[in-house]
Amino acid sequence: MIINSPQALKRYQQAADKSMIILKRLFDATVEGVTPRQIDQLADSECQKMGVIPCFKGVGPKNNRYRFATCISVNDTVVHGIPEAKVLKKGDLVKVDFGINDDGWFTDHCFCKSIGQASPADQQLMAVARKAIIAGAKQAVVGKKIGDIGQQIQSIVEGAGFSVVKEFVGHGIGHDMHDFPQIPAYGVKGTGIKLQEGMVLCVEAQVLASKNDQIYVEDNGWTVKSADGSKSAMFEYMVVVGKKEAMFLTDTRDWPLF
Ligand code: MF3
Ligand code: CO
Repeated sequence: MIINSPQALKRYQQAADKSMIILKRLFDATVEGVTPRQIDQLADSECQKMGVIPCFKGVGPKNNRYRFATCISVNDTVVHGIPEAKVLKKGDLVKVDFGINDDGWFTDHCFCKSIGQASPADQQLMAVARKAIIAGAKQAVVGKKIGDIGQQIQSIVEGAGFSVVKEFVGHGIGHDMHDFPQIPAYGVKGTGIKLQEGMVLCVEAQVLASKNDQIYVEDNGWTVKSADGSKSAMFEYMVVVGKKEAMFLTDTRDWPLF
């Protein structure tokens, strides 16, 4: 959506703030010994307490709707991981993707965290992914184009010897989780649609610790894994396109990576 009044901006900030309170609780709960299923149940109960709806539930095709409040993707699971009842252990690289519907105002964001001290390789993967996606999100400025976002992300990621997944894209958000426009994590500077003031965007990327960007979807129709088994990192930020600079609605930029 395109925010066109200070009131609407304020209302969106309220929704984002509620969502961030829950996301931070999920972050703190993402530790050794817990299961993704427990983190998902926490997301559900926190939503209930706050009077908001977890907005991933019910997404997808009629015969295979998504049933969980979160997507929790571990190690070589890249995105859309189903929160499994399998204990998290030291060295796991965990991506927690979560969003709410707050009386019609939608949020969607994702953090990545290592369980225990990350290996140097995982530290680098997370740091590069976060840096790239922040750099992409900072392109959310009037006059820039969609391709400027993707180009920033892709060049930083590939410059580090990693790759971005091409099959999934960031997106606009508003009174729906997925709104116009689509925002690939790759692209060419100066191409694509022009960003307009007030556009609300989810800038996200799945970054693979490999030059091989191939992925596959498991038989459950959701779980996406890297073809070569490489680990992946993902972040997703909501930003509003600003006149001079991007306004981060859901800011996890300072959160520790492990
Ligand atoms: N964060 C995901 C996205 O940007 C949403 C999860 S898909 C769902 O599209 F099916 F789980 F909702
Ligand atoms: Co998203």
